[in-house]
Amino acid sequence: MPKKVAIIGAGKVGSTLAQVLMYKNLCDVILWNRTPERAIGIALDIMESAPVEGFQTKITATGNMADIAGCDIVVITAGVPRKEGMSRDDLLKVNADVIGSICTNIKTYAPGSIVLVLTNPLDPMVYLTKKITGFDREKVIGMAGILDSSRFAEFIAMETKTGPKTVSAMVLGSHGDLMVPLVRFITVNGKPLSDVLDKTKIDTIVERTRNGGAEIIKYLKDSAYYAPASSLALMIDSIINDKRLTLPCSVYLQGEYGVSDAFLGVPVMLGGKGVEKVVELELNDDERRAMAASAEKIKQLVGELNKLGV
Ligand code: 2OP
Repeated sequence: MPKKVAIIGAGKVGSTLAQVLMYKNLCDVILWNRTPERAIGIALDIMESAPVEGFQTKITATGNMADIAGCDIVVITAGVPRKEGMSRDDLLKVNADVIGSICTNIKTYAPGSIVLVLTNPLDPMVYLTKKITGFDREKVIGMAGILDSSRFAEFIAMETKTGPKTVSAMVLGSHGDLMVPLVRFITVNGKPLSDVLDKTKIDTIVERTRNGGAEIIKYLKDSAYYAPASSLALMIDSIINDKRLTLPCSVYLQGEYGVSDAFLGVPVMLGGKGVEKVVELELNDDERRAMAASAEKIKQLVGELNKLGV
C-alpha cells in the first residue's frame, strides 16, 4: 500500500513536486489548493502521463482540508513567493497568516503526520508550524539546506567540470543571507575543495550560492521551483522508505551546535519517524560563530512574529 503525501498548495513548487513524486512512483499524493479547480487540472494532466511514464501511484485533487486525513507526510508549499528585489524576510507577516490557517487544519485532520515546510522565510515559518501544530520536533522539518547545498555542489561541478554527484557540499544555518556554506568540509572526487579551486574562485561560488534564489528570480521574474521540488522529494523518499539519509534540514535545536529554541539548518538523519537524529559536526570557531549569527537572526524574526501576535 503506497504511503500518502499531502501537498498543500498547487503552485509551481507544489505541482512540480507532485509530478516528481509520481514519476519516481514514490507515493500517492493528495494535492490541495484553495481553488480546487487548479489542483484538479494539474492532477488530471499528470495522471494522463501515467500510460507513458508507467507509474502506478495516484494523485487525488481537493479543496477540502479534511481530505488530508491519514496522510503520512504533509508538505506545505503554499504562500506568497518573493519577487525581484525582495528578501525572504519581507514575506514574514503575509506568510505567517497562510501558515497559521494551514497548521490549524493539519493539527485537526492529520495529527499523526510529519510536516515538511518550504514557505519563506523558511526558518521562522517552520518555528510557527511547530508552535501551532504542537507536534514533536521530530515531526516538523524545514526544507532549505538541501536546496542551498545542491546549488553549491552544482556551481562547484560546473567550475571543476566534474559530475555533480562527485561533489560533497553542505550548507547549514538559515535559508537566507546568513546561511553557512561549510567550505572546509567540501570534497570533489574525494579531494578537499581547497586542493581543486583557489580561494578567489571558492569565494565567488559561495557568494553565488548565497544569492542562488535571487539569481533565479532575476531571470524568471518568479521564485525557483524545480530544485526546491527535487529537494523536497529527496526528504520524502528518505522518510517514507526509512533510508536514514543525512541531509541538511531546518530542525528545532535543543542545545545542538550551541543553539536552543530555534529552527536552524543542520545535518539530520531522516527516517520513518522524521528526524531520527541531529548529526553534530566538529565545527571550528568561525563556523560556530556563523551558526550563532544565523540563529540570532532567526530568533529576531520569530520575535517579530510574537510581537505581531502570531
Ligand atoms: C529559493 O531559494 C524558494 O527560497 C527558495 O529558491
